[in-house]
Amino acid sequence: MSTQKQVINNFKKVCICRSVTGGTIMKAIREGSLSFEALRRAIRVGTGTCKAKRCRPKIEELLQTQKESLDTVDKKASPSKAKV
Ligand code: FES
Repeated sequence: MSTQKQVINNFKKVCICRSVTGGTIMKAIREGSLSFEALRRAIRVGTGTCKAKRCRPKIEELLQTQKESLDTVDKKASPSKAKV
């Protein structure tokens, strides 16, 4: 994802009912909320009047993207290929 697109997504409201931005969601994911339910408990996304009908698909997509990038970082940092 380009830097410009990341900046735009950080300020874009993902959960409109609760006014939660993409940046807030990404921060919560990085801090360990790795499922929709964990995010719901941590930052109350999906608890608005639409009961996550509008935001859940977008949040699931953000979760998937962030998990893939965390996996990539873990594989790069993993000492499994390091010589002992
Ligand atoms: S948009 Fe998230 S609960 Fe309605």
